[in-house]
Amino acid sequence: MPPILIDRAAAAALRLLPPETAHGLAIAALERAPIAARDRSLPSVLRSRVFGCNFDNPIGLAAGFDKDARAWRTFGKLGWGFVEVGGVTPRAQPGSPRPRLFRLSGRAVVNRMGFNSCGVEPVRIRLSRRVDPTPPPLLVNLGVNRDTVDPAEDWEVVLRALYGLAEGFTLNISSPNTAGLRSLEDRRHLRNSIERLVLLRRELAGPDPGPALLVKLSPDPEESALRRTACICVEAGADGIIATNTSAALRQELAVPPASEGGGLSGAPLGARAEKTLRVIHEETEGSVPLIGVGGISTAEDAYARIRMGASLVQLYTAMIWEGVGLGPRIADRLAMLLARDGFRSLGEAVGVDSRRA
Ligand code: FNR
Repeated sequence: MPPILIDRAAAAALRLLPPETAHGLAIAALERAPIAARDRSLPSVLRSRVFGCNFDNPIGLAAGFDKDARAWRTFGKLGWGFVEVGGVTPRAQPGSPRPRLFRLSGRAVVNRMGFNSCGVEPVRIRLSRRVDPTPPPLLVNLGVNRDTVDPAEDWEVVLRALYGLAEGFTLNISSPNTAGLRSLEDRRHLRNSIERLVLLRRELAGPDPGPALLVKLSPDPEESALRRTACICVEAGADGIIATNTSAALRQELAVPPASEGGGLSGAPLGARAEKTLRVIHEETEGSVPLIGVGGISTAEDAYARIRMGASLVQLYTAMIWEGVGLGPRIADRLAMLLARDGFRSLGEAVGVDSRRA
């Protein structure tokens, strides 16, 4: 059977199980999978250098699938261009009560996981075992403990503990499932929090540039608020912006059960809103920092559109629940064809071309 059919069949089998059971099984299998590394020398047109780091291809696994950094190496071997693990919280916590993860018709998911995490120490031990000769670039999504009074302090704890083990860290100000986190979208608070992380990185990195600090935004704020937030991120010293997290607002608009469950919506119905958010941020930041496009991406055409809109890299999660874990590398292969078809000699040439023409 061709690998794509095996991949889809495995995903279909997992979908017969309740969502979190399926997720746990998938992580356990991927953690132990004796997978030989795929030759990651994909077409050179896909290579790029972003945040001072080399990427073989721009298709990454989004945060939230590999929360405890158990399976990320396997994603690298499968041919994903980069992986974001986490959200990682300072101390272990169970997250929200179950059920908290719901599949919807139309290839969408609602989740209110609430930062279930094994805590930073087991993640530090796992990441320290970086045995592969050339692991893919790794991002760590910074989470917060439920009882935190100062999210930036939790980020500092995790950044300190995992310093030197990842190419970048994501300040997640956009999870709809943790009370108080989105208050960071309050401007003064946000600026101060980013600046604290930038200072800590300077202290840890000395004369070196250190890992990238990225901020992940929500698709829900009004356009004017989004523009202001994007400006603050850049002014405060963030190296890039990830757009977007799940949407609490769109979930309310979709009336179909179990969309009425509280939480954030991801997958196909998020695509248009995530695209619009990316466009606005690209316009506002004028290419001053690299952007990562995420939300509702399931095909190479989706990924290519985000790149042409201004994303230097893209990520996905929900589509993989239907298409299997080989989806990222399959998108990368087809993306190379689309770039070549349109005469681009490098990925970088395509980044933002549609915005420049608009
Ligand atoms: C997520 N996402 C997420 N994002 C984040 O910054 N930190 C996190 O801990 C999580 N956790 C998480 C859990 C689950 C179950 C899902 C489905 C999603 C959001 C994710 O990284 C991504 O931004 C959105 O899911 C949109 O992309 P897709 O899924 O539409 O490709």
